[in-house]
Amino acid sequence: MSWEESTRQKMLHLKLPTDPRWVGIAEMQIEDILVDHAYCEQKAASSCISLILRFNELDELVDTLTPIVAEEWGHFERVMDQIRKRGMNFGKPRKDEYVIKLNEFVKKGGSRREHLTEHLLMNALIEARSCERFKLLSKNIADEELQKFYYELMISEAGHYVTFIELARKYYDADKVNKRWQEWLDYEAQVLKNMDLRGDRMH
Ligand SMILES: [Fe+2]
Ligand SMILES: [Fe+2]
Repeated sequence: MSWEESTRQKMLHLKLPTDPRWVGIAEMQIEDILVDHAYCEQKAASSCISLILRFNELDELVDTLTPIVAEEWGHFERVMDQIRKRGMNFGKPRKDEYVIKLNEFVKKGGSRREHLTEHLLMNALIEARSCERFKLLSKNIADEELQKFYYELMISEAGHYVTFIELARKYYDADKVNKRWQEWLDYEAQVLKNMDLRGDRMH
């Protein structure tokens, strides 16, 4: 089985495996990766807070996402610990081209539930891709502490991925969610294909 085939099977239905060269160049720029990663965790927490505030009438959504906010902020803290203990600088956030591109795919208009579906699926996708990248880092980088760190985060983000998909299926027609999920997966593969390979970004 080729590297692409085996990776594809294991990676949460993503349609394009990360270029295997990414992990090598990311390891060489690990300070940039950690800083970018810290902001990814911040954005994950912020996006859950936004969903809670915008859909405050949906009890299960509020109760499910509230602990995830705490978890994501816990991840932010853990990334910051890694940055501080290595004497690295917590720089400014970079332009997040990946998220900007994904946002362009969010359907405008439509019902409130459709809007919710779009955001839940976009979050699920970011979790899935992060999970795939954490796995690559945990398996391939030399720093043993970071191997363990990324392994633990990979497990956590995989759980979030499942939660977002389940919430989407709960609050909107499951068949339509599944169909739209495939469109999101196709779109994300195209986005990634058209982005330059760079080692200073998590995505
Ligand atoms: Fe996280
Ligand atoms: Fe997450």
